[in-house]
Amino acid sequence: MSFVITIDGPAGAGKSTTARAVADRLGFLYVDTGALYRALAFKVLSLGLSAEDEPALERCAQETRLGLAGTPGASQVWLDGVEVGGEIRTPAVSEMSSRLAARPGIRRQLVELQRSLRVKGPLVAEGRDLGTVVFPDAEVKIYLDADHETRVKRRHQELVRRGLPVQVEDVAADLQRRDERDRLRADSPLVAAPDAVLLDTSGMSAEQQVTAVLELARKHPRFPHRAADAREAG
Ligand code: C5P
Repeated sequence: MSFVITIDGPAGAGKSTTARAVADRLGFLYVDTGALYRALAFKVLSLGLSAEDEPALERCAQETRLGLAGTPGASQVWLDGVEVGGEIRTPAVSEMSSRLAARPGIRRQLVELQRSLRVKGPLVAEGRDLGTVVFPDAEVKIYLDADHETRVKRRHQELVRRGLPVQVEDVAADLQRRDERDRLRADSPLVAAPDAVLLDTSGMSAEQQVTAVLELARKHPRFPHRAADAREAG
């Protein structure tokens, strides 16, 4: 089985930045599981389906082809054979993705897809339930968190960078609503795995976060040193 690093935590904790950079440094596959929920949410919104119509949502998930490709620095998300980008990062898609993610029938399908990626090689997977549900036997499990203010600031900056004119207050409300839903749902709630290492990133730079995860990975007895060293040297 391939070496797996999982990074879970609430929105804005620094998961994507850290996971991408760690995967890039080690030459591991980068798995953005939130992007899968987002791509499906984008389709659900485009089709005008109701977030309450469970049978229609499950059927839609079954009929949808989702894929992740590219490199950590230029990752790609594919929806029914078409690459999607900024359109899956809007506040409306964020909200719908967290509503879909509370549905066990949807989660089952997306979790199966995520697990199947392990045959491709060592990976860094980020989301909410990677260390608890998707890869409970992962070699390294990280739970990233940061105080609310820091998380709001980071998410706001990210959206502005993407050209989405959003108010800080709206970002704060969105984060609070989604985190609450993610934490309180019955199926796979957002929670740190008992064997996860907790990192509070509030006062940390991105580089410090990456270094901390790399150190933990490298000292694991099953860490694939040869492959990762060759990658870093190259
Ligand atoms: O990580 P990101 O903010 O892109 O994820 C969007 C939404 O997808 C989250 O708010 C969460 O509800 C859901 N999600 C999840 N489990 C994952 C990844 C994302 O429930 N592993």
